[in-house]
Amino acid sequence: MSKKIKIFNSVEIIDIGSKGQSIAKNSEGIVIMVKNGVPGDIVDIKTYKKKKKYFLGNIIKYHFFSKFRVDAKCEHFGTCGGCKWQNMNYDSQTYFKENKIRYLFKNLCNDTIVNPIIKCKEDYYYRNKLEFSFTENRWLTNKEINSNEKRIERRGIGFHISGMWDKVVDINNCHLQTDPSNKIRLSIKEFAIKNDFSFYNSRLKKGLLRNLIIRNTSLDEFMVIIQFFEKSEKIMLLLNYIKISFPEIKSIQYVINDKENDSIYDRDIKLFYGEKYITEIIDNLKFKIYPKSFFQTNINQTINLYEIVKNFARLNGNEIVYDLYSGLGTISQFISKNAKKVIGIETIEEAVKSAKESTIKNKITNVEFEVGDMKKIFTSKFIKKYGNPDLIITDPPRDGMHKDVVKEILKLDTNIIIYVSCNPSTQLRDLEKLQEKYTIKKIQPVDMFPHTDHVENVVLLEINN
Ligand SMILES: C[S@@+](CC[C@H](N)C(=O)[O-])C[C@H]1O[C@@H](n2cnc3c(N)ncnc32)[C@H](O)[C@@H]1O
Repeated sequence: MSKKIKIFNSVEIIDIGSKGQSIAKNSEGIVIMVKNGVPGDIVDIKTYKKKKKYFLGNIIKYHFFSKFRVDAKCEHFGTCGGCKWQNMNYDSQTYFKENKIRYLFKNLCNDTIVNPIIKCKEDYYYRNKLEFSFTENRWLTNKEINSNEKRIERRGIGFHISGMWDKVVDINNCHLQTDPSNKIRLSIKEFAIKNDFSFYNSRLKKGLLRNLIIRNTSLDEFMVIIQFFEKSEKIMLLLNYIKISFPEIKSIQYVINDKENDSIYDRDIKLFYGEKYITEIIDNLKFKIYPKSFFQTNINQTINLYEIVKNFARLNGNEIVYDLYSGLGTISQFISKNAKKVIGIETIEEAVKSAKESTIKNKITNVEFEVGDMKKIFTSKFIKKYGNPDLIITDPPRDGMHKDVVKEILKLDTNIIIYVSCNPSTQLRDLEKLQEKYTIKKIQPVDMFPHTDHVENVVLLEINN
């Protein structure tokens, strides 16, 4: 056995790590990261890599199964890169998420200001957007590999295997989005195979069918966007088939993308059938969701999230509020009744256009939006135009705020900041800088993504006297 490979016997899994990994620690304090372990399991581990502070390993024997373990609901569990914690009961998942927040922020504030995590009522079928990849070379199950079948269909559509950008597991049944999501995907696959469509090969960069996005809303409106690698006569054939087979779909759109990456933000998305958008409703406010616009993926928890923001804000109607990274202007409009004026900033033009349209439809007159990159637009000129804010709400993407944005915020001496984040690690980094002038008063974790290690986190900051 190579010197680098070690065997650790009867080790306890003590905590959850990132990317669905669990943390094992032996009696000498050696830490090993493993897959498919649940805190409380006692296991033997064989390592395959040594990092600076820990080993990476695989569980080779279970001596004792944790009391937190449950059977995973999904047939793709263990292969698919999503929902890696389905083997742990939901209460334990949220317990560990809350602990993760407490641990992460332990040097910045007292543990007592972290509120208990807000759990989801529905831990399945909670997503309103799923993005599937087509593949020419789908991942085979052990059963398929060991079968005598000579001609196995390798074309498929599904999700990437964890950590493998070019490996896609064909999904038969996903429990994340309500139907007809599964039916649409399976039907498209069947039609495409029958009609000899080529599926994408990400290594060779060829194949017509690249990616499928299905979005829906609580009003049961569905949008389907298909990404093709190149132009082809077959495109219309498939889109027509979808239109005829699923009359309930409100919007069918497509995009040609021959770039290396499959991001469609810089591409022209074409409407094939129906409306350009689907509609979502929050607190009697209507929002139009266009293909490129961000919308929170778990609608039930979004309402809870926005209520927390409103409660933290304690507005009295006289305040100027900045809503940074405003998306479709949902937070701006949600809190608008309680403020004098709200100004949103967002980089996606289509989202700002939709935000402006919805304020008119929702009869809101005290909200304005600016389109642009935060680090370029959020300047003293902007502040001069809109006035010094009494409250800043910031909800940046996973990367957190650009350092120049944090610097600009620090110049303003705004009384209250509410920082909403889907990535507490980058949030922590930004809060460490904001601490120069601010104190954390409250922390509220929210579980938006059951069975994953993601956790949303809202932090209330007040300026030091
Ligand atoms: C986490 S979303 C929050 C959106 C909104 N607050 C909501 O609740 O739906 C982050 C938003 O920031 C936008 N964004 C990303 N980078 C940006 C930048 N540099 N400047 C302005 N907006 C940006 C994204 O397009 C997205 O709409």
